[in-house]
Amino acid sequence: MQPEQPQDHAKLAAGRRAIETYLQDGMRIGLGSGTTSHWFVRALGEKVKQGFDIAGVPTSTATRDLALEVGVPLLDLNDITELDFTIDGADEIDHAGRMIKGGGACLLWEKMVARASKRMVAVVDDKKVVDTLGAFPVPVEVIRFGWRSTERELRKLFTEFGYRDLRIALRGGAEEPIRTDSGHYILDCHLQRITDPDRLAPRFNEIPGVAEHGLFVGIADEMVIGHADGSGEVIRLR
Ligand code: 5RP
Repeated sequence: MQPEQPQDHAKLAAGRRAIETYLQDGMRIGLGSGTTSHWFVRALGEKVKQGFDIAGVPTSTATRDLALEVGVPLLDLNDITELDFTIDGADEIDHAGRMIKGGGACLLWEKMVARASKRMVAVVDDKKVVDTLGAFPVPVEVIRFGWRSTERELRKLFTEFGYRDLRIALRGGAEEPIRTDSGHYILDCHLQRITDPDRLAPRFNEIPGVAEHGLFVGIADEMVIGHADGSGEVIRLR
């Protein structure tokens, strides 16, 4: 598969640069989800064909299927004490490495796999880097039981934080809501401008119906930014 759009070239550049920078023979890796991560997984498949001993834990069924297709051996997160690193995309990332993730509805597994890794590297095209998070809605993965009650709790939280005119949308709509790989729903929270992600992020997990949320704070250690000209830059965040 070849990139077509300029942003695909940028995504592929980020994935390739990540391989050059981080990959060593024998490593065990978290395999992110989304189009950028999938360029990385395809490039990883080429490395495996060249004889590299690499195996990965996928963060979604879609990534699992792609890894199988391109020949990347898979591991079960249950069997791994610690992964060497995770490579994963983002919907938005700020200059401190705080991210909104979950545009592909895989945020729960993505966060678990990132947490199980020594390092988390965000791979993004240059359009994903923002000064302030929030133009992209924050996905919140909620259990299906009583999801409207969870939505009300989320509204209370956002009101406490001073968000006005916010919109929360059940992804896929009430007729046919999408289900995550864990069978949950996604509530997309349109906040526009998140002024205090560090304070907001831990508060989601206090709401009982929330399985996980898409604000990834203090998780990315490094980011690789890909450009449409095929170049990629590595930025160390901590
Ligand atoms: C999936 C994610 C993806 O990493 C995020 O949506 C970015 O995707 P893409 O690389 O296709 O722009 O969080 O849940």
